[in-house]
Amino acid sequence: MNTPGKLFVKTFGCQMNVYDTEKIYAFMQDKYLPATDENDADVIILNTCSIRDKAEQKVYSLLGRFKPLKAANPGLVIGVGGCVAQQEGEKLLKRSPVVDVVFGTHNIDELPDLIDERLRNGRRICRIREDTDTVPTSDAPRVAGGAPTALLTIMKGCDNYCTYCVVPLVRGREVSRPLAKIVDEALHLAGTGVREITLLGQNVNSYSDPETGTGFVDLLEKIDSIPGIERLRFVTSHPKDFSPELARAMAGLPTICEHIHLPVQSGSDRVLEAMGRGYSSAEYLEKVSLLKELVPEVELTTDIIVGFPGETREDFEKTLQLIEKVQFQNAFSFRFSSRPGTRAAGMENPVTDEEKRPWLPEFQAAQNQVSVRRHQAMMGQTVEVLVEGVDKKQTGRLEGRSRTNFIVHFKGDPSFVGRTVQVLIKKSRTIYLEGELLP
Ligand code: 5AD
Ligand code: SF4
Repeated sequence: MNTPGKLFVKTFGCQMNVYDTEKIYAFMQDKYLPATDENDADVIILNTCSIRDKAEQKVYSLLGRFKPLKAANPGLVIGVGGCVAQQEGEKLLKRSPVVDVVFGTHNIDELPDLIDERLRNGRRICRIREDTDTVPTSDAPRVAGGAPTALLTIMKGCDNYCTYCVVPLVRGREVSRPLAKIVDEALHLAGTGVREITLLGQNVNSYSDPETGTGFVDLLEKIDSIPGIERLRFVTSHPKDFSPELARAMAGLPTICEHIHLPVQSGSDRVLEAMGRGYSSAEYLEKVSLLKELVPEVELTTDIIVGFPGETREDFEKTLQLIEKVQFQNAFSFRFSSRPGTRAAGMENPVTDEEKRPWLPEFQAAQNQVSVRRHQAMMGQTVEVLVEGVDKKQTGRLEGRSRTNFIVHFKGDPSFVGRTVQVLIKKSRTIYLEGELLP
């Protein structure tokens, strides 16, 4: 038997890609062991993201950097998957001579065969499934990881077609996985020692079991009752589909963590309308206040787009007002990036880039102040932390997360990894907390 080769996957973008990367390792595990880095690999895969243009440029510049690796090792196979691959296809082979295999977001299961084919006959390959509506979500094997947290995909694709977003174009229509399969996978994860599961989907609130029509809240109830699972999280929730029923489930089901990522995108109704989001800022705030009422300790995070086509200073200021009202723990903020094939790409943009350019740093400074406040409010409190690993920057320290999504660092023995502990918060940093392990 041949000695196994080594595989390195570099992941860009969202948690869906992190999950797909796990699947790539799993599909390849019969022939390839994980490599420590790209220099040590026989196969390098870039799992790409095309949500904003910078991410795409990163892929091309990284591919350029692989040239010397390829020159030193002509047997090295370089593959590109993910959203850039789905969208660019053959163009990637043309634009980047180091690429051997291009595969789409619905072709991950074929990857081992595509690599074999490339090694056998030397031809460069592009394999992209376009009819993503009809392709059932593939049920990948899993690599035994031993980590206390795991991602679990419950649905793929998105039917919302927000006017700026490329996701429906590269990930296809919404397809939910059968509830029985999700529950089986969660049971399996619990059996391997996983304590926290994050359910993944572009819009988890519209989950519907293809066999019975059972909705998201029922799915949460099923997973909540699995012995061994202590914490349940889910991303991403669309505010338009965030229901009072879900808020009640968050209050009532013991495993659901007191945190929600609820991307608002803008505080201006005019901009929200142009984005096609399907809610007003008042509706968003109403949902948030219901949630805060039912789950008083809840923390919120969000996504914001700054500089949408036609956005004025007045619109932008409404976003600043909204973050003050909600007091997000953290906000991921992005400059609008025009994506080919989306409706926003064709919208008029009368406000100059020059005028808009300072808005993003201004937003980030404002949110930073809010984040500092949220973190400071934790001083002196005792929180339950699931220890996820050792602190990579400081030896002798551990890192974990509170149920409310605060990152917590503290002194402790590595044997605590995977356990839930109580930590007294002593210091607050902008994006994490420091504390002391309680006996
Ligand atoms: N430009 C800027 N940001 C975008 N996002 C999605 N598409 C774009 C775009 N074209 C952001 C949204 C989304 C997050 C994942 O990425 O805020 O919630
Ligand atoms: Fe994109 Fe909107 Fe779907 Fe989110 S809900 S993935 S922003 S189209």
